[in-house]
Amino acid sequence: MSAVIAEHVTGTTPGSTPGIREGAFGNARALTCRECGHEVELGPHYACMECFGPLEIAYDFPVVTREEIEAGPRNIWRYKALLPVPTDIEQSPNMEPGFTRLLRARNLGRELGIETLWVKDDSTNPTNSFKDRVVACALSAATEFHSKVFACPSTGNLANAVAAAGARAGIKTVVFIPSNLEKPKQVNSAVFTESLVAVNGNYDDVNKLASEIAGEEDGWAFVNVNVRPYYAEGSKTLGYEIAEQLGWRLPDQIVIPVASGSQLTKVHKAFQELVKLGLVEDKPYKVFGAQAEGCSPVSTAYKAGTDAIRPVKPDTIAKSLAIGNPADGIYVLDICRETGGAVEDITDDEVRDGIVLLARTEGIFTETAGGTTVGVLKKLVESGQLDPTLETVVINTGHGLKTLDAVADSVGPAATIDPSYAAFVKTGLA
Ligand SMILES: Cc1ncc(COP(=O)(O)O)c(C=O)c1O
Ligand SMILES: [Zn+2]
Repeated sequence: MSAVIAEHVTGTTPGSTPGIREGAFGNARALTCRECGHEVELGPHYACMECFGPLEIAYDFPVVTREEIEAGPRNIWRYKALLPVPTDIEQSPNMEPGFTRLLRARNLGRELGIETLWVKDDSTNPTNSFKDRVVACALSAATEFHSKVFACPSTGNLANAVAAAGARAGIKTVVFIPSNLEKPKQVNSAVFTESLVAVNGNYDDVNKLASEIAGEEDGWAFVNVNVRPYYAEGSKTLGYEIAEQLGWRLPDQIVIPVASGSQLTKVHKAFQELVKLGLVEDKPYKVFGAQAEGCSPVSTAYKAGTDAIRPVKPDTIAKSLAIGNPADGIYVLDICRETGGAVEDITDDEVRDGIVLLARTEGIFTETAGGTTVGVLKKLVESGQLDPTLETVVINTGHGLKTLDAVADSVGPAATIDPSYAAFVKTGLA
């Protein structure tokens, strides 16, 4: 169990919970401990009372058919039967994220020598990152718990998503970020909320502070702290969508960025659930994790062949992935090892190259997290860890306009000229 989770054990009450209504969490049955399997009733809990392990949602799924899902809305609520949300979830104001494009990436595939490559482009979500998915599920839980404040510690994108979703739902938001965060990510939160708090410290310091506040203040739902079990389930929808968009099939290989590691573990959980529900055929698939070298505690442990994830002090341009003490790191290691995948990391220069490569081959402008994922994909092929003959999906989790500075010095005008044809001809671009 990670130290981060241990610190979250205090303050398990995000709301006054005068009573949770019938069906508040749909087909979810209980909260179960990922370490010891101990089960507790669904409620505002996130750490096991027996062993302090992290809790996750367990379900009693009814029969769910492809047709029912396909008849649903073109957002994550088409999978509401598989999420801890009520059946009337679509009635509450929310951002309606999801059902983003799965693009066949022929040019990037050709460039990297991969026969069949897809990009799952989550930069087109309402606040331009996959975080809108997790926040939508967290908002539902916070609402059911009658929380009065919707909050988060964030590396940037989560703060954007929480601030926007809270504004739309009419719930007070307070979002905490490291003070050295990229300016566009700060503005993208501050525009939605009066309560953006910039903390002098790194993400891990901000996370610690959030845990402390959650322990002290009544009625605060910190989406990734004390409602984390509900929040995390939102990432499953990435896995469901990929399978549905491939024609109800699982890919052979998938590359996913890793910060806390939550997203990677939940995409795997989604694939497993689809198999169990008979919605896709069972088949082997490999899961790969992507980190930036300046914050690579999980890939370092992977390469060392150990389960011990040593917390690091992040130093990378991939700020959205800059979590030095990843809560789900150990589960990422398990999944990548069990499925025959790997965890790899790349330098900041390779992150920049990854951003430009995806942009120039597929017309997709990704942020540093996506640059990391594309750069790691390239490295995995070159090092022979990823099989270029197998169908591969790479997830783009966020938008490049939020991290312009990362590439501002690498790209720019090819020439600056006077407005004359002769001057243009001189550039050699004609
Ligand atoms: C754009 C982007 N991609 C990926 C991640 C990683 O998410 P996780 O913490 O679930 O590993 C984050 C986390 O903040 C992010 O902002
Ligand atoms: Zn336990």
